[in-house]
Amino acid sequence: MNWLDSWDRQQEVYIRDRERRYDVMLAFLEELAPAEPLVLDLAAGPGSTAVRVLDRLPGARCLAVDVDPVLQRLGRDAYGDAGGRLTWIRADLRDPEWPSALGAGRVDAVVSTTALHWLRPEELAPLYRTLRELLAESGGPFLNGDHFPFPRETPRIRAAAQRVDQRRQDDAVAAGADDWAAWWEALRADPDLAAEHAARAGLWPEDGRGFASASLAFHQAALDTAGFTESAIVWQDLDERVLLALP
Ligand SMILES: C[S@@+](CC[C@H](N)C(=O)[O-])C[C@H]1O[C@@H](n2cnc3c(N)ncnc32)[C@H](O)[C@@H]1O
Repeated sequence: MNWLDSWDRQQEVYIRDRERRYDVMLAFLEELAPAEPLVLDLAAGPGSTAVRVLDRLPGARCLAVDVDPVLQRLGRDAYGDAGGRLTWIRADLRDPEWPSALGAGRVDAVVSTTALHWLRPEELAPLYRTLRELLAESGGPFLNGDHFPFPRETPRIRAAAQRVDQRRQDDAVAAGADDWAAWWEALRADPDLAAEHAARAGLWPEDGRGFASASLAFHQAALDTAGFTESAIVWQDLDERVLLALP
């Protein structure tokens, strides 16, 4: 079983145009990051964004940060250190000390995909302050491709978008992709990953995590407060968006 191929198919259940989203993010990265950048992939999982950065920008190096030992093991097994260009760092972004694990006080760009909606608003605000500090010297971009729900003030639009999204998910599963639960269930049966599964247990509450509690308005206000001077949506499909912020 190629777990990373099936990871990509599983993620596409939720983000139909995931590769298009990457294409836009990488185009802005090329445009706004300095040559041969050091790029931080936040909540990198198995390195999905990091490896696309390395493919697209031949001079780039990436730091792939995530707390999940299972996904990091899959990424490490598949890509290793990518010829010295990829560093895997296990850290929890909820821990204020996480930047000390980076081994770098500055980076040239920060990217993240489908991940920061796992953080609560009170966890995002300090994270953005840290990113602003990491980007202070380079002035490079922060590109966050994620699920930013439509506001509750537009309830019919929000509900219609959810229905369209659900139909897309149902179609993708009917066409043979695993959804999140099915993918993890299959992976748990792999005995080679038993130690990582044990280390993963308890990282998050089992009963759902209140995802996507932060609105787009909150994200932009928090970026502003952290000292980013511009932020804007540069790509969108339903409530999947790419938010670009500049120091
Ligand atoms: C849906 S996956 C996305 C992974 C990858 N960025 C991608 O797009 O394929 C969400 C990732 O966020 C990571 N994550 C969530 N909360 C985190 C935290 N507090 N610290 C570090 N990583 C976190 C999870 O471990 C998981 O790998």
